Amino acid sequence: MNSELQRLLAMQNDHVLNTYTRDTMMVRGQGSYLWDLEGRRYLDFAMGISVCNLGHCHPRVTAAICEQAGKLVHTSNLFYNDKQPRLAKLIADHSFGGKVFFANSGAEANEGLIKLARRWGNSQGGRSDIITMENSFHGRTLATLAATGRGKYRAGFQPDMPGFDFATYNDLDSVKAKITARTAAILVEPVLGEGGVIPATPQFLAGLRQLCDQHNLLLLFDEVQTGMGRTGKFFAYQHYGVAPDAMSMAKALGNGIPLAAFEVQPRLADVLTPGTHASTFGGTPLACAAGIAVFETLDQDNVLANANAMGEWFERELTALKAKHGYVTDIRRLGLMIGVDVGDKVKAIQAGCRERGLLVLTAGEQTIRLMPALTITREQVQEGIAILAEAMA
Ligand SMILES: Cc1ncc(COP(=O)(O)O)c(C=O)c1O
Repeated sequence: MNSELQRLLAMQNDHVLNTYTRDTMMVRGQGSYLWDLEGRRYLDFAMGISVCNLGHCHPRVTAAICEQAGKLVHTSNLFYNDKQPRLAKLIADHSFGGKVFFANSGAEANEGLIKLARRWGNSQGGRSDIITMENSFHGRTLATLAATGRGKYRAGFQPDMPGFDFATYNDLDSVKAKITARTAAILVEPVLGEGGVIPATPQFLAGLRQLCDQHNLLLLFDEVQTGMGRTGKFFAYQHYGVAPDAMSMAKALGNGIPLAAFEVQPRLADVLTPGTHASTFGGTPLACAAGIAVFETLDQDNVLANANAMGEWFERELTALKAKHGYVTDIRRLGLMIGVDVGDKVKAIQAGCRERGLLVLTAGEQTIRLMPALTITREQVQEGIAILAEAMA
């Protein structure tokens, strides 16, 4: 370890709260690669947990950020800025034509969905409860923790915020059994991300839509991880032909600049009125300029076609690996959101990849999660698969 790294790690240890497990100190990124302080290169199949979907430091996004940084960074929402309406229109045009509130993180966008559901539900006769899913993940604020089905994240932070109940993912009967006179909404990830890369079945999402229509509930999609092309469409729900009443997005919306949003169907656009919801930083000109560049790149550079083609290539290669290793029990994929079940070998494989210069994520207790850049090339897929094969052997 060089002395500069030692000095920085000591400083980190002294001054940064120790809430993460982490090691390598990254200093530079370009496309699908990251470099650490000591000059070592890594092929990145994590992309900041599906944030830098266009690759690190995408030239078009970097140019948009630099240009906007020299013009106007922040005004607060006491004033209009010229980037928010443009980005809101891009979001609406690429989804269900709704109206948008801008925030800064996935948890914050989901908080907005929860507030929308409560305010709407309360106006319908005291309905404020939300059904979410076991094994879901919706964020680390108190409300989104209460909505999160993975109970380990709530440990030590009780009392849980009331008003949430958990059903079983992909089990419509279990959702039906949870509906009460107080239910206002159902909140669901179209693909369980942190919970193990588990896509919803078409019957499940269609059934949720039907249940919501029957019982006058809001159907809320958390597209924080699945949005912005990760699954091969702009939003994962578009694979299913089932529209939500509102949805959240974050992560890749700014390709690394903190930027999030929730979008509501036009008929719900008046639920949140002036003064009922706000954010100092939400939708700064800087963040929105990045978001606009992200949409323009997705539209103009054939990125989704590449993501789908590379996703198929991954699946082919991973299926060959599965045939070699009996401990690989399942491969699940939607676009470039990929889960490989490897049982109790998950940590060893992740560490083996890291040692060999490949960054992969895990999900749930037994899944290697791959979320490479949507711009990845076939050569880079092969490079990563070769490393993965070594680590798995
Ligand atoms: C589906 C989902 N929702 C919400 C969040 C929380 O997002 P953030 O960490 O930006 O608050 C995440 C983060 O991983 C997520 O995957």
